[in-house]
Amino acid sequence: MQLKNFKRESIIPLPVTFISTVSEDGVGNVAPYSCLMPILRPFDLICVATAGVMRDTFDNMKSQGEFVVNLPGVDMMDKVIPTAKFVPPEVSEFELAELVEKPSKTLKTPGVDGCYAWMECKLHKIVDEEYDKFPYALVLAKVVHLEIRDDIYDAENGSWDVEKAKPLMMTESNEGMHFCTVKDMDFFEPYGAMFPNGKDPLAGMYK
Ligand SMILES: Cc1cc2nc3c(=O)[nH]c(=O)nc-3n(C[C@H](O)[C@H](O)[C@H](O)COP(=O)(O)O)c2cc1C
Repeated sequence: MQLKNFKRESIIPLPVTFISTVSEDGVGNVAPYSCLMPILRPFDLICVATAGVMRDTFDNMKSQGEFVVNLPGVDMMDKVIPTAKFVPPEVSEFELAELVEKPSKTLKTPGVDGCYAWMECKLHKIVDEEYDKFPYALVLAKVVHLEIRDDIYDAENGSWDVEKAKPLMMTESNEGMHFCTVKDMDFFEPYGAMFPNGKDPLAGMYK
């Protein structure tokens, strides 16, 4: 079956994250963002794609230079629509969606309590342009503090229990979003397997 080209995101399972920000006036904001990725393995950079209009999140990222990427489990599915609805910047989505603030370690912007992991981020660079006359931006940010719930993380080998965390993800169809999560296949390959000498050149970073 051939699909329309713009449907490319509906065939990639996407993470559902909540990005929390604070406005110039100190109002807390939370919104779901799925177009988000880490940039390469050795870096501490992430990239978020955002529409350039009608996004308080983007305005707050620019004015405050910081934000938190909160990673929810499927138990927070019902918070997606309340935080995605358009509301004026003076309305706090923490209050609207009955979310509890989690004080951040390095930023004044709070995270969202009840998630399984949190990335405190500082703005690195914004790539701003128009595509087909629609303004959008790629927001590059540096993770300055990264935290995961202790009960799902194995500090010995850095693996985490996806069956317990149940990360919230989604696929898309013509009329909306289908929420899903991740299943562990119990199949492991070391990074070193990609290299001719069998050694991961970045192994030292993980010690
Ligand atoms: C699951 C989900 C994922 C979304 N991902 C993005 C995204 O990656 N980029 C974006 O610009 N908008 C995305 N949106 C739309 C914003 O969340 C929505 O426009 C929201 O109202 C923005 O809130 P704000 O004005 O408080 O920033 C997504 C919406 C949903 C429901």
